[in-house]
Formats: sequence, C-alpha cells, structure tokens
Amino acid sequence: MPLLELEALDVCYGDLQVIWALSLAVERGTIACLLGPNGSGKSTIMNSITGLVRPRAGAIRFQGERIDRLPTYEIIERGIAHVLERRRVFPFMSVLDNLLLGSFPPRGKAKRSDQLARVFALFPVLAQRQAQLAGTLSGGEQQMLAIGRGLMARPTLLLVDEPFLGLAPVVIRELLDIFARLNREEGMTILLVEQNVEMALGMSHRGFVLESGRLVIQGPAREVLESVELRQVFLGRP
Ligand SMILES: Nc1ncnc2c1ncn2[C@@H]1O[C@H](COP(=O)(O)OP(=O)(O)OP(=O)(O)O)[C@@H](O)[C@H]1O
Ligand SMILES: [Mg+2]
Repeated sequence: MPLLELEALDVCYGDLQVIWALSLAVERGTIACLLGPNGSGKSTIMNSITGLVRPRAGAIRFQGERIDRLPTYEIIERGIAHVLERRRVFPFMSVLDNLLLGSFPPRGKAKRSDQLARVFALFPVLAQRQAQLAGTLSGGEQQMLAIGRGLMARPTLLLVDEPFLGLAPVVIRELLDIFARLNREEGMTILLVEQNVEMALGMSHRGFVLESGRLVIQGPAREVLESVELRQVFLGRP
C-alpha cells in the first residue's frame, strides 16, 4: 500500500478548475518530487493534501485511510507536516517559539525535547540563534526554521513546497544533505515541489510532472530526467 495516494483529484477555485483527474502514489520511505511550470498546480496539490484546499472530486488516502474530509489539524496529527511556499515563519516570535509551535500536535508534544534536540542537531545554526526573532534570520536560516518547525511534529510524510527558492548554492547543498539524511536515517517519506528540475530529480526516487493541472509524466527520477516529454513540458511543444 502506498503511504500517500491521490486518486482522480479535481480541484477548483470557484468555477475555475485547476487540477484535472490527477492520480499519483508516493511509496513509504521514498523521496518524490512534483515538477511543473509556474501555475501548473503544484502548490494546489500540496494544499489539497493538508486540507487547506478542498478537492471537488476524488480521494486522498494516507496510510490507506481517506483524509480528504478531515480538518487540517487532524491530517497533521496523523503524521503529515507541510512546509509552505515562501517559508512563513512567525517573524516576531523567537526561533525557539517558532519551533515549539510545530510540536503542538499530541504526536509532537510527547517527545518535544527529544525532537528539539534532533532539529538542533540537524540545524546547529537554529540552536545558536534560538532566542533571536525569526524575522531577523537570513533567508536560508528561515527556510531551515520552517523545515525544523515541520519536523517538530515528528511527521511520517514531509511535504515541502519550493524549499530552495532564492537560496545560495551552499545553503541548497546543506538542505539537500538534510533531506537525504531524514530519508536515510529516519526513513522519512518526502514529497517536494521544486522548480529546478535537475536538482529535484537528482535527489528523488520518483518524479511527477504537471502541465496545466494534469499529470503528464511520472516514473523513476532518472527516466523522467532523460525523457523527451520533460523537455517538451518545460521548453514548449515542438
Ligand atoms: N486561491 C486561489 N484562487 C484562485 N485561483 C488560484 C488560487 N490559488 C491558485 N490559483 C490558480 O490555480 C493555478 C495553480 O496555482 P498553483 O499555485 O497551484 O501553481 P504552482 O504550480 O504552485 O505555481 P508556482 O510554481 O508559481 O508556485 C494558477 O492558475 C493559479 O492562478
Ligand atoms: Mg506553488
């Protein structure tokens, strides 16, 4: 059974349909990436998984159970953390308080201090700056904080929307290493959205490519990377 399964999903904003009959599955213990041009619906899919947007039709299953009618806090409690696009840390709260907010679900609360130690081990800079206001962190540090906050809930599935946007290559490399470690050391399943196709497919087991709200390519990352269709989606149809 896949860890996460989307089946025949239709998503609309008012009368405007932006996702069409989309089905995909993410296997437990894997890293998968969702690719596609701007406006193709990547964030809409991520937001549908955590109930921030409600699909008009179709089903979303996590660990075999329907979650598409659950309130967001229950979806999080079942083990999905969502690091939203553009980081969204609370700028006027300290780094530490931002992290502690991530552990509000009961599954996080029980092991709060262990998990905080784990996050500080992954991101030593957050430990050094725990008393600092989050809004005064650099862009890279804020992204680390957003990911760290997601990890505080001890998720089984981590959703990350464009984690590398606007970051320096050295920070990107550091984050790539963190994702690989989470996957390897904790068996964490990760679904990420990314614009940089080669980087995303380079770190993933499987790739999914959207075009105008429809899934047009899926497969093992290497095959997707080498496919002619991928070039057609990103460089335009011949
Ligand atoms: N709240 C909303 N109300 C109306 N339309 C929306 C809303 N959010 C997104 N859309 C539209 O839905 C489509 C998909 O948007 P979405 O943000 O999911 O794309 P994306 O692939 O994440 O794009 P990007 O790469 O720019 O982040 C776009 O046409 C967008 O204008
Ligand atoms: Mg987006």
